[in-house]
Amino acid sequence: MNYAEFYNHSVSNPQAFWENEARLIDWQQPFSQALDYSRPPFTKWFVGGKTNLCHNAVDRWIGTQADQPALIAISTETGTEKVYSFTELLAEVNRAAAVMQSLGVAKGDRVLIYMPMVAEAAFAMLACARIGAIHSVVFGGFASNSLATRIDDAKPKLIFSADAGSRAGKIVEYKPLLDEAINLARHKPSHVLLVNRGLAPMKLLADRDLDYSALRQQHFDANVPLVWLDSGDPSYVLYTSGTTGKPKGVQRDVGGYAVALASSMKHIFCGNPGETYFATSDIGWVVGHSYIVYGPLIAGMATIMYEGLPVRPDAGVWWGIVEKYKVTRMFSAPTAVRVLKKHPPELMKKYDLSSLKALYLAGEPLDETTSEWIASQLGVPVIDNYWQTETGWPILSVAKGIEDTPTRLGSPGIPMPGYKVKIINETTGALCGPNEKGVVVLEGPLPPGCMQTIYGDDERFVNTYWSDVGNAQVYSTFDWGIRDADGYYFILGRTDDVINVAGHRLGTREIEESISSHPNVSEVAVVGVEDKIKGQAAIAFVIPRNAETAATPQAKLALEAEIMAVVDKQLGAVARPSRVYFVTLLPKTRSGKLLRRSIQAICEGRDPGDLTTIEDPLSLQQIKAALAG
Ligand code: PRX
Repeated sequence: MNYAEFYNHSVSNPQAFWENEARLIDWQQPFSQALDYSRPPFTKWFVGGKTNLCHNAVDRWIGTQADQPALIAISTETGTEKVYSFTELLAEVNRAAAVMQSLGVAKGDRVLIYMPMVAEAAFAMLACARIGAIHSVVFGGFASNSLATRIDDAKPKLIFSADAGSRAGKIVEYKPLLDEAINLARHKPSHVLLVNRGLAPMKLLADRDLDYSALRQQHFDANVPLVWLDSGDPSYVLYTSGTTGKPKGVQRDVGGYAVALASSMKHIFCGNPGETYFATSDIGWVVGHSYIVYGPLIAGMATIMYEGLPVRPDAGVWWGIVEKYKVTRMFSAPTAVRVLKKHPPELMKKYDLSSLKALYLAGEPLDETTSEWIASQLGVPVIDNYWQTETGWPILSVAKGIEDTPTRLGSPGIPMPGYKVKIINETTGALCGPNEKGVVVLEGPLPPGCMQTIYGDDERFVNTYWSDVGNAQVYSTFDWGIRDADGYYFILGRTDDVINVAGHRLGTREIEESISSHPNVSEVAVVGVEDKIKGQAAIAFVIPRNAETAATPQAKLALEAEIMAVVDKQLGAVARPSRVYFVTLLPKTRSGKLLRRSIQAICEGRDPGDLTTIEDPLSLQQIKAALAG
């Protein structure tokens, strides 16, 4: 079959198409109806079916590859490396599940996971999946306020955490941030389980805080029965940034997600049981959920969890891992490749990379130079893929498992199975013609694996993402895009106030709210500005309450440092603006709306666009002057 036939079948008869794909996973009870779209835009996949993500990722492989590697945990920060076979992984998951059960965690309870890239984080996720608890992993780079907001929204019974992580040889303590977050939050978890890596001293709070290793020992031989879940039961909630300061809890199901991952692993990532997959992301992001933990394991592959930088001890470190573990498929982000490009290519050439079949890149636009450079270094196809936390797996890419579709530089590719991708005019909703810029939308029903709703807020899910266009209900990706005459799509950045720094999705509103909490900040605007390495960098323009405090270069530097420290403390260094500039006026419309796009354009040396509604054109002069120093 060629790809066009395969794809057309997926959208013309989704029931039959996904019924067939559903055979890629194990079901404890078969489903009676592949798709229920009777209450659009809510989509129910595999109604009546019962399955379990942990079973499909772990237990299922015991019969055929019990002793083969399942999880390879490597930390170049602590100098540790450990390979867990499927049998060992199952034993660890059973221990974690038993510990959670002993603390009263049951089906439907939320468990918040705030962990560095250690094997225990994957055990915790899989243990939740095993017993039907809903995990919510919070990226370890987020600090106490970000964490507190998520604690209050998810209301976890249990928090799974650790003493510390390590980054570039520096210990990053987790426990103090967690303690502060719990103090800030209204909701209090019953227990906090702590993995002690021996990196930082921890003060355990009596009755609340528990040492994981002691409890693990008590449940060493545990055998926790799988809790078979309805296909539509929630598996996890993963928070992501949007237009407002309040992150959205993207809720995913069990059956649809398992099938989507199995299907994408087969057709897009072409992974086979017994091979090794290496995704360099973090479990705190969606790539970590789908393609570090669940996807590769569901495909029977070994998966690598890596704690460390791509260039430490040197820029050959990833390629040494590829050689040692015979990695066949690797997944990373353009930023990481741009960082590697600055280092001597000999470091890469030192290793035997003959096992590697393809490199997949996602999370931010892949520029042509970066793509061509890494392809020539590795001598394997570089496959761009475009998707979102909300969709859980690629919307656009090429499915080499079906047909050797050529890739096109600068384009993430063509729609993947089940995705009805359209480009529409932002105001009229009319379909755009070839090469005409519009908003990238998806026509419902969304394929399996995509978000079910915003956790606890169906209304916000519908209002945020869905609108009626013509006689179809469409989901907005909030990305600009074009489709060329041959059907290849190009992504041109966000339509909303979300920015993308080094592949990390951040909300400018969240950063603005944090900066505003500094007592000397009267007003602030944060924009994402083009950056050669990170794709975008966050830049803040601040009106200080007391102009005197930013009158001299030294005073400006001091206030800039203070503001950065506030963001570090509240949101985490990941959200810290790379520069803070001071002005006395911000560009706004006469109705008071910040003209972020004009600010961004000036920062990037472009024309600020339509300024007919601007309140005071002098404000733009101020931005220019501030940038000029
Ligand atoms: O703007 C798009 C950009 O990243 C956003 C989604 O980020 P996140 O929810 O963190 O999920 C990342 C999953 C890989 C998108 O709305 N984006 C993602 N992939 C690409 C991209 N932009 C251009 N090209 C891509 N391949």
